[in-house]
Amino acid sequence: MALAIKDKVVLVTGGARGIGAGIVATLSDAGARIMVADIGIQNSSANEWNYALAGEDEIDQLRKRHPQIGTCHVDVTDPESCVAAVQTTVDQFGQLDVLINNAGIVDSGPIETFKVDVWDKIFAVNSKGIFLMAQAALPHLRKTENPCIVNTASIAGKQGYPNMAAYCGSKFAAIGITQSLAAELAPQNIRVNAICPGMVGTAMWLEHLLPSNATSDSQKEAEFTESMAQTIPLGRPQTPEDMGDAVLYLINAVNVNAIALTWYKDPLLYF
Ligand code: NAI
Repeated sequence: MALAIKDKVVLVTGGARGIGAGIVATLSDAGARIMVADIGIQNSSANEWNYALAGEDEIDQLRKRHPQIGTCHVDVTDPESCVAAVQTTVDQFGQLDVLINNAGIVDSGPIETFKVDVWDKIFAVNSKGIFLMAQAALPHLRKTENPCIVNTASIAGKQGYPNMAAYCGSKFAAIGITQSLAAELAPQNIRVNAICPGMVGTAMWLEHLLPSNATSDSQKEAEFTESMAQTIPLGRPQTPEDMGDAVLYLINAVNVNAIALTWYKDPLLYF
């Protein structure tokens, strides 16, 4: 059976680096046509990247392998920006088959001193962004064969952690939104699923959260890789490309709906 992904048009938010870039790489390798939409991309007409936000190496490598990858700016917290990114995708590729809501941010801290504006921003990107992008994409998804949405939730959407109320709350919401949209849109043949990564060694963690006494970035990264592996049943770290494999499965598995795929050690958390 031919893979459903071949020639599909996929919009990946937060696709400029980390897990998003891994998803872009995997789906491009599988034959999809990709629009990378990210707040780190300056503007759609110039196709320019803001290297301060988006990893230069990841982008250069992706573009060498897949020069046809499209790029555009999006801020998933802004309804007009979401509509514009979807329109850019349809203008460039003629259709939109798959929406990957992957953009996300993280911060942590004790609840009593946690800043209200940071709380709001985390929910705006991680939860409301899914709603806004889905709203913008649905009129186009409806026109294609076997359309679907895949949301990057998190293990933090299934389990709480100290100092992580905002992030966990926003990711629990992401799973709730996934399951609600899956039920609502199934009669229209639009599937909605989520992936729930455990810890993946991306800049998000290395920049914001990693407690470490390491003196160099490489030492910090090595420490993190080791600590990550211990949280995964297979005992080896997850990569952004592994997340791409899961997303690819969810796109191709045309009868799979309303699931949240998880990698983590606590077996009670699998479903
Ligand atoms: P990252 O920080 O490396 O990449 C996130 C991307 O989202 C960046 O390119 C950033 O520019 C973009 N972005 C941020 N705010 C945006 C906005 N308002 N509009 C559009 N784009 C925006 O992070 P990473 O680790 O690749 O995370 C990707 C997703 O995976 C996030 O949703 C995150 O919460 C989730 N996740 C990450 C885990 C990890 O261990 N790294 C574990 C579980 C989930």
